[in-house]
Amino acid sequence: MPAESTVLVVGGTAGIGLEIVRHYAGQGREVVLTSRDADRAAKVAEEVGGRTSGIAVDLAQPERIAGQLSAVGNVGHLVIGAIERDDNTVRDYDVTRATYLTLLKLVGYTEVVHALLPRTNDDGAIVLFGGLAKSRPYPGSTTVSTVNGGITGMVRTMAVELAPIRVNALHPAIVGDSPYWQAKPDAVLDTFRSRTPGGRLVSMQDIVGAVTFLLENRAMNGINLHVDGGWLLT
Ligand SMILES: NC(=O)c1ccc[n+]([C@@H]2O[C@H](COP(=O)([O-])OP(=O)(O)OC[C@H]3O[C@@H](n4cnc5c(N)ncnc54)[C@H](OP(=O)(O)O)[C@@H]3O)[C@@H](O)[C@H]2O)c1
Repeated sequence: MPAESTVLVVGGTAGIGLEIVRHYAGQGREVVLTSRDADRAAKVAEEVGGRTSGIAVDLAQPERIAGQLSAVGNVGHLVIGAIERDDNTVRDYDVTRATYLTLLKLVGYTEVVHALLPRTNDDGAIVLFGGLAKSRPYPGSTTVSTVNGGITGMVRTMAVELAPIRVNALHPAIVGDSPYWQAKPDAVLDTFRSRTPGGRLVSMQDIVGAVTFLLENRAMNGINLHVDGGWLLT
């Protein structure tokens, strides 16, 4: 991996994405993070420090993505984890919300990869975020389960189409110390914890370790990696 290549984290202002930004910035890498909002991207990049910069990218407006990414240089590592969660059920289906998340994840993620392809190194690697709601739905996860299932197929076709660039996906279980789940009542997290072998929820640092493994281990390609502490076994 050329030292001058960029680490781009799409959805890098919060949660897991921000932890990945911090990891690579701490290694002295040139990191570009994205937000829907240019000011927020710049502010978070400044807080992270090092060789970190921020740009605005809205995955729910796919026609604009290529232009928004035009200033990004050669990409060595690309991580796409952006999400705007959708609480939806088939019985009470909200088409507007479902359309937004489906566009964001399935078209937005693909368009980012497409737009950056001429600037992605042949030995570069891409990690896309799905989630275990694809395999274990929860009330309201209709769209989330659907789009995270879609990531499974996306990774497999991209790994074939884009070779020698490697493409993998990571599907976390509930990440207990992520902002989204930390905001939930303790009782909710305790229920999930009690159903996880080992009695411990996945942490953001566990996810960062899995992302770096997928990005840096050159044997990893076309994998949909469950990072769940064994949750799916119960
Ligand atoms: N947290 C978990 O427990 C968990 C479990 C399973 C899977 N996952 C997956 O892991 C990934 C990260 O989750 P997280 O909980 O860390 O997320 P998060 O804290 O909610 O952060 C979401 C990020 O996405 C960005 N974003 C939102 N809408 C966007 C849009 N339309 N275009 C571009 N960027 C947008 C946000 O940036 P701005 O607000 O600054 O625009 C933010 O940086 C997601 O794909 C999620 O499905 C997470």
